[in-house]
Amino acid sequence: MSGLVHLIYSSAATREMSSKDLVALLALAREKNASLDITGMLLFVEGSFLQVLEGDGDAVDALFEHIARDDRHTSVVTIIREPIPRRDFSDWSMGYAQVSAEELASIDGLNDFFQGQGCFDDLNPGRTKKLLKAFNSGRWRSRVATQPIDDQPSVSSPQPTNSLPTERPPVSYAFQPIIDLDDERVTSHEAIELDKTTKLPTTVQRDDPAARTQLQMESHTMAMGLAARLGLSTGLTLNYAVYRCDDAERTMQATVDAAERYGFRPDRLTLELDHDQLLDDPQWFASVLQQQRAFGMRISIDNFGAGRSGHYLIDTYKPDGVALNEGLVRHIETNGARQAIVRGILQTAEDLGIDVVAKQIRDQAEVDWFRSEGVHLFQGALFAEPQFEQLASEVFIPARELT
Ligand SMILES: Cc1cc2nc3c(=O)[nH]c(=O)nc-3n(C[C@H](O)[C@H](O)[C@H](O)COP(=O)(O)O)c2cc1C
Repeated sequence: MSGLVHLIYSSAATREMSSKDLVALLALAREKNASLDITGMLLFVEGSFLQVLEGDGDAVDALFEHIARDDRHTSVVTIIREPIPRRDFSDWSMGYAQVSAEELASIDGLNDFFQGQGCFDDLNPGRTKKLLKAFNSGRWRSRVATQPIDDQPSVSSPQPTNSLPTERPPVSYAFQPIIDLDDERVTSHEAIELDKTTKLPTTVQRDDPAARTQLQMESHTMAMGLAARLGLSTGLTLNYAVYRCDDAERTMQATVDAAERYGFRPDRLTLELDHDQLLDDPQWFASVLQQQRAFGMRISIDNFGAGRSGHYLIDTYKPDGVALNEGLVRHIETNGARQAIVRGILQTAEDLGIDVVAKQIRDQAEVDWFRSEGVHLFQGALFAEPQFEQLASEVFIPARELT
């Protein structure tokens, strides 16, 4: 067994496929997939397929290899293959956009996935759902010509700090909410590391990887301990910077241990990567992160669009979210270049089921621009300032609609 994964791909039909053909394909797929303990979903819209396969990694890979050779489709594009904590589908089903009411009624497993009842709405709000939605709205459709188709307890570290090589100022945490304006609720709080005395961001041993690694190992424990003491009930976003691959597993294990100790289920945690401090072997580090993702932890890339934080990080780390760099956000409502860049990022994110958080928001005009582009996750002084060793007592929610 290689662990639970999902693989999502798109492809283009090479021939007309009547509902009869699709039903035959579905019947065969159901039977074979059941024997392999593979679940999923196949959508077919206007000559394009989008399929979700979930199951043991080896079994999914083998089946996918087989399916990819099927000459009934071409232009097979793997959108994502990644570990998942649980299945999205308990059974095999098939969405098909153009079916009649009789067909819907008569064919088990064939359903009008988007317009019909259940199914899409019932899905967990994760990557699969986002990708299915993107497909339904026209993304990932085939571009090849095909035939027409009819149919914490204390703020100080609870672990003894055995061997910090150099002295460092004591640190603590401020918490700043991340808000979902669609739901008008705080989804998570980011723990922001501050110098305990100056209350300014730490610049601790930036040049001393060993010290930084040690601090990294302690810091999540401190942040989670404090968050637990404050009674945090939302998600918790933790910044994660490792400087050496050798340290990645140790630092990650410290985070996992702290989560267990303070009762944070993995799916309440988002690790926000600080790209500028990464690393000699990103691929290997990505595999360490993916192991945690398999338990439900979310991975996000901080300061996206700044410095070395380019789109290639999306390919390497397959994040669940990206947080836009402040430089892209500031006065975006008047800056065409920033708008064009952000539109590109949003498109990429939509195509890959990635959440985008607009951070460091100061003005209503910035919010309005992002809202008009469909962004719903925000953080910044406009909503709530970071509170040192406290959760925000008030969060400003701007007036509704803003188009
Ligand atoms: C878009 C598409 C999706 C498919 N999905 C599956 C599937 O989920 N499971 C499956 O067994 N076969 C699926 N097939 C059919 C396989 O490619 C293949 O025809 C089938 O597994 C029978 O293979 P066999 O004749 O070697 O036994 C799919 C084919 C297409 C074109």
